[in-house]
Amino acid sequence: MNENDFSSYLVNIQKQFFSGVPVTEISLKDICFEITEENEAKLIDGTVNHPIILKYPVKYSYQTIFLKKLLSILESGSTSSEIADTIYEHYVRVLNSKSDVYYKHYYLNHNDIITLEENPNLISDGTTGLCTWQASLHLAEWCIQNNHLFDSKNIFELGSGVGLLGIVLSKKTTAKEIWLSDCHSQVLNKLCKNIKLNTTDYKIIDEIDLEQFDLLKSGRTLLKAVSDGVEGQKTFGVKLFDWVDVSTPGLFSDLFCDYVLAADVVYDSSVFEHLLRNAETLKSFLKTIEQTESLHYRKLDCVKPKVLFWNQDTPIELYAVYSRRRIFIDYGVPRNDTKRNYYGGHLI
Ligand SMILES: C[S@@+](CC[C@H](N)C(=O)[O-])C[C@H]1O[C@@H](n2cnc3c(N)ncnc32)[C@H](O)[C@@H]1O
Repeated sequence: MNENDFSSYLVNIQKQFFSGVPVTEISLKDICFEITEENEAKLIDGTVNHPIILKYPVKYSYQTIFLKKLLSILESGSTSSEIADTIYEHYVRVLNSKSDVYYKHYYLNHNDIITLEENPNLISDGTTGLCTWQASLHLAEWCIQNNHLFDSKNIFELGSGVGLLGIVLSKKTTAKEIWLSDCHSQVLNKLCKNIKLNTTDYKIIDEIDLEQFDLLKSGRTLLKAVSDGVEGQKTFGVKLFDWVDVSTPGLFSDLFCDYVLAADVVYDSSVFEHLLRNAETLKSFLKTIEQTESLHYRKLDCVKPKVLFWNQDTPIELYAVYSRRRIFIDYGVPRNDTKRNYYGGHLI
């Protein structure tokens, strides 16, 4: 394998390792074929020994499984050199490491990696919002590939979870204002932390102590940061917003937005009767839009991963819903029609 091929394989493996793609899905065989000692070191330094991973670890049990797979491939033979001792040393290190907090990282390019504090499980602490869902990755990639749409625009995101989409927008578009929102205290706590971790070029001008969460009402600003760039001042913030309260008068009187974005937002059936997460309810959702006089929808073309990485087995559909302003919908359709086997997302 020549050096260019090795570098692009390495980036591909990094994208997957950083974001916790199941090790079984990461193809290590090709990169390990006749790997040199130098490239073995690059592979380790680009994954388990990468400075970002050392500072903000992905789950240690995940790193252990990754190294175990790497060692088993290397031990099975096709290398031209001895397996470096450092790989065994890293294996022992990660095996004996523990942390209460874990991260995932989303590789935009060599110099720009988004680091998010996330829970390793899809559902934890009674919410789905403590990890990044594939619909968010897909919608973020769509926004990157259509970033001209967001020039100088004001954006509001519903059910932002740990914040990937909003942070991608802040890095990859020239949107003027980006407001993220959610209703769950722990999700909002992680969301605010993640924004601060990834937007060091912004200055925080307002921040609320989330200890008082129970006293706060929908619409309340939790974090507001600004940055002065060549295109003028940009704002990035977080609001507490439970969409059950959407009709509260004056809720967002201070907010103007051009787009509302949402990825994999779960609607409670009491809020929107038919909108649960499967293909049937997507139909009901679209039918409900058809029955309104003021809303229309259009299916958008999905995008292929160019910058971000996600497993494309998950079916995703992307919709734009129009009133006077645009609302994007990103909807993951079930792999089959059972309610238990759904992935991806839907949104308003
Ligand atoms: C499946 S997660 C998706 C998170 C993120 N958009 C993503 O795709 O990674 C659904 C999110 O919707 C939020 N959510 C659920 N019900 C909500 C409500 N009534 N108001 C606001 N957010 C809500 C949850 O807290 C959670 O963060």
